[in-house]
Amino acid sequence: MSKLFEPLTIRGVTFRNRLWVAPMCQYMCLDHDGMPNDWHLMNAGSLAAGGTGLFLSEATGVSPEARITSECAGIWNDAQRDQWKRIVSLVHQQGAAAGIQLAHSGRKGSDYRGFTAAAGVTKPISEGGWRPVGPSPIACPGLDVPDVLDQAGIDKVIDDFGTAAVRAVEAGFDVIEIHAAHGYLIHNFLSPLSNERTDEYGGSLENRARLLLEIIDRIREVVPESMPLFVRFSATDWVENGWQTEDTAQVAHWANERGADFFDISSGGLIRDIFISVSPGYQVPLTETVRKLGNVAAAAVGKITSAHQAESILADGHADAIFMGRELIRDPHFPFRAAAELGVTVDYYPLTYTAADWGSR
Ligand SMILES: Cc1cc2nc3c(=O)[nH]c(=O)nc-3n(C[C@H](O)[C@H](O)[C@H](O)COP(=O)(O)O)c2cc1C
Repeated sequence: MSKLFEPLTIRGVTFRNRLWVAPMCQYMCLDHDGMPNDWHLMNAGSLAAGGTGLFLSEATGVSPEARITSECAGIWNDAQRDQWKRIVSLVHQQGAAAGIQLAHSGRKGSDYRGFTAAAGVTKPISEGGWRPVGPSPIACPGLDVPDVLDQAGIDKVIDDFGTAAVRAVEAGFDVIEIHAAHGYLIHNFLSPLSNERTDEYGGSLENRARLLLEIIDRIREVVPESMPLFVRFSATDWVENGWQTEDTAQVAHWANERGADFFDISSGGLIRDIFISVSPGYQVPLTETVRKLGNVAAAAVGKITSAHQAESILADGHADAIFMGRELIRDPHFPFRAAAELGVTVDYYPLTYTAADWGSR
């Protein structure tokens, strides 16, 4: 019996296995309109046809200024929703669940396109950029000092997440994940390193978590009861005076009480130039801590690259599911290889691909 290939049900959605596509920015909206296009369709379709249980989209802007770069995808208008609908439909035809990661870039917004030499510097308005925003006037090193969000700005962010969630439901997505990790807006509010507010959104842990919890409340108000809601956290900033794994566990617990179901545990991204020892499965202990202290269900991600590694993380009780990123870029059909390596027979090969069933080698 494989844990990796055991279905998992959360609210009204059953995932056919626990090997899921980690959210990955594509930077492929080359018209700078946030419209998912043929590239996004191909990427989602190939990963879904490759046997994953859940395709999760890239960080998707809830407003134009919520994007990380001008090339990031969005879901702030109906035309974008309709493009996503096409992608969701293809993912469903392949038997996978479809999820969207709703995001606001915060103080890391208006960057140059990822994986280019220009990336890592704020793109000015004169070049099509916009003003990044944050809880406090504290810059991510290398980027501009963000404009500070006032109450009206915070209210708009919450409204934008709510409207984006409505469009995500209309597009047919099964799952919404809130991006609260990697130094973007919600993480900026959570971490004491980027949040020095003295109002009800700063100071105590409760106050720093308020934005996330209000976004959860808003999304829960507008999506069906049957829809699972995930949150991705950076469990730690990897520095002593920063955001800590124990804080993540507490906030995950509160988030769970407010209607978030499942937690996707990553780390880092708030500050730069710190040493992180990135070894295989290096974030698994973070997932384990959040799961245990927070009493919540959670997935592990990060440098998980083999079937047996993924299987043992689940079998040893460290996580409830596995998100995989780069290994699925290397081999979009990895889940079928993993099934063969674990001695599991799956019945969801696309018909033609049965010609290449690993068992027939
Ligand atoms: C090309 C690329 C784009 C990424 N974009 C996102 C993103 O949009 N949202 C996010 O939460 N994480 C993003 N990540 C992080 C991945 O989801 C994942 O956590 C990370 O790659 C570690 O997993 P891996 O070792 O299996 O690749 C990205 C990673 C890569 C390689």
